[in-house]
Amino acid sequence: MEKTILVTGGAGYIGSITVRRLLEEGYNVIVLDNLSRGHIESVPAGVEFIEGDIADEEKVESLLKKYSISSVIHFAAYAYVGESVENPSLYFENNIKKGLIFLEILKRNNIKKIIFSSSCATYGIPESIPITEKEKQKPINPYGLTKLLFEKALQSYDESFGLKYVIVRYFNAAGAAYGIGEDHQPETHLIPLVFQVALGKAEYMQINGVDYPTEDGTCVRDYIHVLDLAEAHLLALEYLENGGVSEEFNLGLGKGYSVRQIIDLCQEITSHPIPIKISKRRTGDPAYLVASAEKIKKELGWQAKYAMKDMIQSAWDWHRGDVLLEMKSVEKGKK
Ligand code: UFG
Repeated sequence: MEKTILVTGGAGYIGSITVRRLLEEGYNVIVLDNLSRGHIESVPAGVEFIEGDIADEEKVESLLKKYSISSVIHFAAYAYVGESVENPSLYFENNIKKGLIFLEILKRNNIKKIIFSSSCATYGIPESIPITEKEKQKPINPYGLTKLLFEKALQSYDESFGLKYVIVRYFNAAGAAYGIGEDHQPETHLIPLVFQVALGKAEYMQINGVDYPTEDGTCVRDYIHVLDLAEAHLLALEYLENGGVSEEFNLGLGKGYSVRQIIDLCQEITSHPIPIKISKRRTGDPAYLVASAEKIKKELGWQAKYAMKDMIQSAWDWHRGDVLLEMKSVEKGKK
């Protein structure tokens, strides 16, 4: 029988690409997105799209009554570290308050399987590198804190009501696929901002701090191609659908790139000079975040297919418009 999956935030960057992979694998997909940060054009044809909030009890109740949902993939959240420092209430409201209302609606409707998009921002400043799932979670910005609180709520719902979850803690998502790339408004992420300079839309790239305890003084991050992320969600879904117990996984390449290294790589791939301006540190930025993805490799058989250069190349192709938005529906198999 075809399984129906509810994807919240399915009009967003990572969500909409995962939706396409789900369709290719033969799942039936319902997208719930309030379009506050997502794009309706990113939802492929052939998908039931419901414009609405995860905390809209009437809307969510009625969709859960209408469709027989097997699992939920929960992407819908705000995800800017800087914004969360400037406006924490937005993050508590959206990621926690609304998330908890949503969770309660799932419970009332006996939905027992959920995959949650969490973040390495839940770890804060790690004590050991690479970061395994055993690392203490001590977030240093409100964004990471809200993701951690929702993780805790899932754990409680498992203990009290038997909800089974897979928490996926992403490191930095990058790259483009299916004609969809990173298109946040406002854009605060490193790679898309470098491309704005390469495209002549901005004069220079600002580096947020060069006095970190890293090799070149700039922050180091671990990047992961959005298609590799989507693949991990498919594996997690299969795992839960086959009766798996609750689990947590980190997702990254296991390789660190500094802000300067990323700018240099972008310069090389775009063949455009990228003037830089040094500015002070951005509050809430840990110096060094590199994942150990050994657990998901071992337990779910996940393997990254794309390297850093593939991410930058695909994102660059998308940003300069080489890849036109493909809005056609994806041929469905049977599940
Ligand atoms: N940076 C600059 N200049 C800019 C933009 C960013 O120097 O103009 C720096 C940041 O200060 C940071 C690094 O580039 O040191 C990466 O910043 P991003 O904003 O691209 O990404 P973050 O690491 O802050 O956050 C992202 C996601 C989060 C996720 C996190 C995990 O937005 O959702 O990765 O590392 F939790």
